[in-house]
Amino acid sequence: MILIIDFGSQYNQLIARRVREHHVYCQIEPPNIPFDKIRALRPEGIILSGGPASIYEKGAPRADPTIFDVGVPILGICYGMQFMMHTLGGEVIRADKREYGFAELRIKGPKGIFAGISDTTRCWMSHGDSIGRLPKGFRATASTANTKIAAAENTNRHLYGLQFHPEVVHTPEGKRMLGNFLFDICRCKKTWTMKSFIRNAVDEIRHEAVNSRVILGLSGGVDSSVAAALIHQAIGDRLTCVFVDNGVLRENEAGKVLDLFKSHLRMNVRFARAGRRFVKALKGVTDPERKRKIIGRLFIRVFEGEARKIKGVSFLAQGTLYPDLIESRSAFGGPTAIIKSHHNVGGLPKRMKLKLIEPLKHLFKDEVRLLGKELGLPDELIWRQPFPGPGLAVRIIGEVTEKRLSILRRADAILLEEIRNAGYYGKLWQSFAVLLPIKSVGIMGDQRTYEHIIAIRAVTSEDAMTADWAQLPDTVLGSISNRIINEVRGVNRVVYDISSKPPSTIEWE
Ligand code: XMP
Repeated sequence: MILIIDFGSQYNQLIARRVREHHVYCQIEPPNIPFDKIRALRPEGIILSGGPASIYEKGAPRADPTIFDVGVPILGICYGMQFMMHTLGGEVIRADKREYGFAELRIKGPKGIFAGISDTTRCWMSHGDSIGRLPKGFRATASTANTKIAAAENTNRHLYGLQFHPEVVHTPEGKRMLGNFLFDICRCKKTWTMKSFIRNAVDEIRHEAVNSRVILGLSGGVDSSVAAALIHQAIGDRLTCVFVDNGVLRENEAGKVLDLFKSHLRMNVRFARAGRRFVKALKGVTDPERKRKIIGRLFIRVFEGEARKIKGVSFLAQGTLYPDLIESRSAFGGPTAIIKSHHNVGGLPKRMKLKLIEPLKHLFKDEVRLLGKELGLPDELIWRQPFPGPGLAVRIIGEVTEKRLSILRRADAILLEEIRNAGYYGKLWQSFAVLLPIKSVGIMGDQRTYEHIIAIRAVTSEDAMTADWAQLPDTVLGSISNRIINEVRGVNRVVYDISSKPPSTIEWE
């Protein structure tokens, strides 16, 4: 495995993904990771990541200098390189201006990290400080017009530094450079595949949950579904999935999930039919945050009720992914940590006194999809667009009633059908319908109508942190609108939401 020391760069997860794309396992750890833990991980190499700080700043993140004595090859990227050179006796020059963008890298010889790379190649720079003088034993291996020492190495000690970012796509030969580090320098083997992951994970789960039962909240989304399939492979019927119908699901949603997991995959699924309770609890509520809280709390109560009916449960499984884990852990005790607030069952394990099993906690989303495929889950599920825990309740502006739910369900189903038929489902991050709490005048046949408005929301996004409204073709928008107005009783107008995030959010509430 490769150990990545997290100095807080926005590109850290990208470094990890690039390494794994080479089929080498890696783990991101904070700079204060103890020497013993590094030893215990037995890395074949270490990558020191970039970071926003200057090495001279008070509180700049630092790793224990003994890291350079671990005896495995180390690659410092950007700040990681500066940390390396500064610690080993070189000089880092402070800069007032950042160098940001493309630069032409001139390589001094196609060896080591640069084996097989062209003499001049594009690279992506994003740094302030730079290396003024190298420590003894190092030599510069590449430069750019602005940066004399854009890369350096000490081949005796197997230490390497790159001032630019090989992990981003803007460095076209970056993947090859990382590959050279992994295979030629660290002598890694390509052992990280989903098949090997499944083997290890199954062993681990069997070992952990020996003789006890595991419970999992199945939502039908990618993460909980893949976690369920993996745990099922390990312990079979000792896994019980609980699917809660919270009354704010989409058309046929409960049926489809149950059909797949219960009938098709023959898994142990308990169906908690609690729709009425949820809709009753939401009666008269219009405030979005109150809706979310009511649904969240009731979900926990219903889930606990189901769990109590199963004897011998001591584990709760969750589909937590690697980015959640990294982001909820501060890089260096500083302010860079982003904590996701969208966890639907965050309070459960503590309340229920259960131990947690999180078998996906070291995987990225794209790896979870590969894993799902390897476990035999259908593409339709693996490529499902995200759906929020509070469901249609945050897509019905104003009060949630059975009548409004049935209007929105039908409109949403039509919208999704048209999006799928036009081949856009997989290209969009999300596409859905929203029911507005106002009515407008229309005319149908010779009759004046006074009915609801449906808004269409369709966005593209990489990670939901930012999103753009999707430029769907007029013909697709037209057929969605025509069909909704003609087929859904109670709707006489459809509008398209053309706001991006920020400043708008993806969901309306
Ligand atoms: P916003 O609306 O904040 O949404 O732009 C970002 C992403 O998160 C999803 N979302 C949720 N997911 N529970 C979830 O599991 C929630 O309470 C929740 N609220 C929003 C949303 O669909 C989008 O993908």
